Amino acid sequence: MLKDSIDTIDRLTVICFSPTRTSRKIAEAVAAGMNGTPGGTADYADASRQIRTIDLTLDRSDEPIILNSDGAVVLGAPVYAGRVAPEAVRRLRRIQVAVGASVPAVVTVTYGNRDYEDALVELYDLAVSLGLSPFAAGAFIGEHSYSTPEVPVADGRPDTLDLADARIFGGQCARKLNSSGAFAPFHIKGNRPYKEPSRPVSDTSRTAQSSSGSQAKPAPSVPLTADGCPLCGECVRVCPTGAVSIDLNVRKVLTDPTLCIHCCACVRACPAGLRTYTTPFTAFLHEHCSARRDPETFL
Ligand SMILES: Cc1cc2nc3c(=O)[nH]c(=O)nc-3n(C[C@H](O)[C@H](O)[C@H](O)COP(=O)(O)O)c2cc1C
Ligand code: SF4
Ligand code: SF4
Repeated sequence: MLKDSIDTIDRLTVICFSPTRTSRKIAEAVAAGMNGTPGGTADYADASRQIRTIDLTLDRSDEPIILNSDGAVVLGAPVYAGRVAPEAVRRLRRIQVAVGASVPAVVTVTYGNRDYEDALVELYDLAVSLGLSPFAAGAFIGEHSYSTPEVPVADGRPDTLDLADARIFGGQCARKLNSSGAFAPFHIKGNRPYKEPSRPVSDTSRTAQSSSGSQAKPAPSVPLTADGCPLCGECVRVCPTGAVSIDLNVRKVLTDPTLCIHCCACVRACPAGLRTYTTPFTAFLHEHCSARRDPETFL
């Protein structure tokens, strides 16, 4: 049985899926705030010594992650098309709460300054279905996966202000855990049933419209590698789904479109800047979603 409140947080565990690392940064900053780390810039590195991070981005195993009641968890996942990224849902489903244990949870989603729609309620519901006890939720902003230096969308986020907000929210979470009625129902923005999952942006049905109303060309289905690639293998290493491989016979980087989730981890990681994912959706986002949005939290 869950107590009405929790006096001390013995251990904090961040569990995240985060191809371009923004969801991880947010979840770790929230955990640092829960741990009582003071505000300021990036000072949560100290506190992270007491915080365990289980980053599932490159972990494709099916092994269960069993949680005992020795602390709280902070879940972090990106928003894809107004929902929790499906690959994040798959990986977080490995979480199991040990029999008789009760594990308080904070759920966080990170989105690219467009909208998070039903993702936060979806992550809350997922946490409940896994046997966790979510008591706080927050939607934060991260640089959009499709952002480029030429066509930026929420570039540089989460920034200092976002991380400070995440830590402040973490402090509020810790105080809520210590108060009576910590696990009473609370409101989270979003709808049930959730919006229908949309097809990938590479589908012709989702071609972006320019401001003049004309339809742009559909995006390529996977990132492309320009000529001159030295085959360093970094894109292979960072791909969460194993979609990238190197064919040494033809000396080319290959990408399996059936595995690619368009997360752009490989694009960000390419040290030569040769890997690109050019989608007309980026210009659409730049044009319509550049006004700064702020984190929204629910306790
Ligand atoms: C396939 C895909 C769909 C996305 N859909 C949305 C969306 O609906 N709303 C939004 O604001 N950002 C959207 N984004 C941007 C990501 O939510 C954002 O960049 C996030 O910070 C990425 O998290 P990560 O760094 O943990 O990978 C999408 C990104 C991808 C790759
Ligand atoms: S990371 Fe870039 S340079 Fe390295 S193999 Fe991949 S595409 Fe080529
Ligand atoms: S190949 Fe696709 S899934 Fe793999 S890192 Fe690149 S964008 Fe992500």
